[in-house]
Amino acid sequence: MNARRSHVARPVVDLAGRVAVVTGAGGGMGRVLVEDLTRAGAHVVAVARDAPRTERLLRETVGDHGRFEVVEADLSLRHGVVDAATAIGRRHPHVHVLVNNAGAHFPDRGLTPDGVERHVAVDYLAAFGLTHLLRENLVAARGRVVHVASDSLNDTRQVKLLGRARPADLDPAQLDDLTRVNPADGFVAFEAYARAKLLTVTSGYHLARLLRPHGVTVNSVHPGIVATGIVDDLVPAALRPLGWLIRSGMRTPRDGASAALRLATDPALAGVTGRYYRREVVATTPAVSHDPAVQQRLHEVSVRWFAG
Ligand SMILES: NC(=O)c1ccc[n+]([C@@H]2O[C@H](COP(=O)([O-])OP(=O)(O)OC[C@H]3O[C@@H](n4cnc5c(N)ncnc54)[C@H](OP(=O)(O)O)[C@@H]3O)[C@@H](O)[C@H]2O)c1
Repeated sequence: MNARRSHVARPVVDLAGRVAVVTGAGGGMGRVLVEDLTRAGAHVVAVARDAPRTERLLRETVGDHGRFEVVEADLSLRHGVVDAATAIGRRHPHVHVLVNNAGAHFPDRGLTPDGVERHVAVDYLAAFGLTHLLRENLVAARGRVVHVASDSLNDTRQVKLLGRARPADLDPAQLDDLTRVNPADGFVAFEAYARAKLLTVTSGYHLARLLRPHGVTVNSVHPGIVATGIVDDLVPAALRPLGWLIRSGMRTPRDGASAALRLATDPALAGVTGRYYRREVVATTPAVSHDPAVQQRLHEVSVRWFAG
C-alpha cells in the first residue's frame, strides 16, 4: 500500500457506444473512474449529490473530449435511488457498466428520513437499488455491475496490530426488516460500515446468480486502502494529527480505482461473475454471505424496500 504503486496500466479497451454509470462520481476514486471510462470512449452517467460541483470537477478532470452527464441524487434516500434509476433508465435503454462506488463512513449512528441506519442506506441499499431498478437496462446490454465494497467485512479491527481478524457479522433475524440492521444497542461505527458492505457482497452473490442467465455479471471489489475523503472519516480521532503521514502510505485514487475499472472493462473478465476481489485477487468473505437462505431473505426485504 504505497503511493509509489500508482503506475497501474490504464485500460486499452474501446468503450465507444457504451454507457457506464458511476456513483460517487465526484469523490476520490469516482472521478478517476469517470475520467478513465470517458477516455475509453464510454458515455458516462456520473451520479453525485451536488451536480454543479461535480460537473465542474469532472470538466477539469475529463476535459472537453469525454462525454458525460451528471445525475444529481442523494443515494441515502429511497426516492433518491428510485429517481436516479428512473432518470437513467429512461435516457439509456442500455447500461453496459454500473459501478456502485458511492460509499460513506459515519462516526455516529444516524437514521435516514426513511428510518434506516445511514450505512445500510449508502453502503448497501444504494448499490442494491440501482442494480435492481436498472435490471432491464443491464440485461439489454449484457452489462457488468461492480460493487465497490471494503475488506473491513473480513476484519472490523481498525488497528490491526494485535489479535485476530474480526469479520463483520450479520444477524439473519434482522433481515426481516432493514430498519433493524445496525441497531443502537452495541453500535460501533466501523462495524456498521463493514456490515453494510457485507450486505452488498452477500446480495451481489445472489444478484450474480439471478442475472447470469441474462448475460449480466456482478462482482464486488475491495480497492485497497486509498487516500480519499472517506479515509479522513475513518482515521481514529487520536491519529488525525498524523493524517498526512498515514495518507502518504496509502494508494492513490488512481491506483485504487484501477481494481474496479478492471472488473468493469477487462475483456479477459467477460462472463466472470459472483466473485469478491481483494484488488485483483479473488478472496473469501464470511460464511454468512454464502448462505442461500440469508441471500434470499436479504433479496426479498430489499426488493420490498424499493417497492413501497
Ligand atoms: N478509500 C479507501 O481506503 C476505501 C477502502 C475500501 C473501500 N472504499 C470504498 O470506495 C468507495 C469510493 O470511496 P472513496 O474512497 O473514493 O471516498 P470518497 O472520496 O469519500 O468518495 C465517496 C463518494 O461517495 C459519495 N456519497 C457519499 N454519500 C452519498 C450519498 N448519500 N449519495 C450519493 N453519493 C454519496 C460521495 O459524494 P459527495 O462527493 O457528494 O460527498 C463521494 O463522491 C466507497 O464505496 C468506499 O466505501 C474505500
